[in-house]
Amino acid sequence: MSNLKVHHIGYLVKKMENAIRSFEALGYELTQRTIYDEYRLVNICFLQKDGYRIELVSPVSDTSVVSGLMKKYKNSPYHICYETEHFETDYQELLTNGFLSIDSPTPAPALEGRKVVFLMSPSLGMIELLQKIPG
Ligand code: NI
Repeated sequence: MSNLKVHHIGYLVKKMENAIRSFEALGYELTQRTIYDEYRLVNICFLQKDGYRIELVSPVSDTSVVSGLMKKYKNSPYHICYETEHFETDYQELLTNGFLSIDSPTPAPALEGRKVVFLMSPSLGMIELLQKIPG
């Protein structure tokens, strides 16, 4: 799985605008404005600093998949996303390595509609796998 590249760190936030202002105060630059993800009922934006990309995720409904996580974790990082050109084979390999799929691959509107899937590891928590479009 050495072909996996860290793409971003996902960060849960209650109030998107306040979170953006606070990250900007730390020197982050907003690289993608807030986009609504209709599959997950969340708002998403991206910031960057020192080569690190941070994804802010804020639930817009109590039925959002991350609303439960928000109650548990409050404002905090909650997943690392890995990008791969071999989405299906790496997805299957992760499953055989003990990762459990917690949803099925769906397009990510905030990431050009590329496929993403979330997986859970009993030993390290949640990760996200993101399809890389070659070229
Ligand atoms: Ni993410």
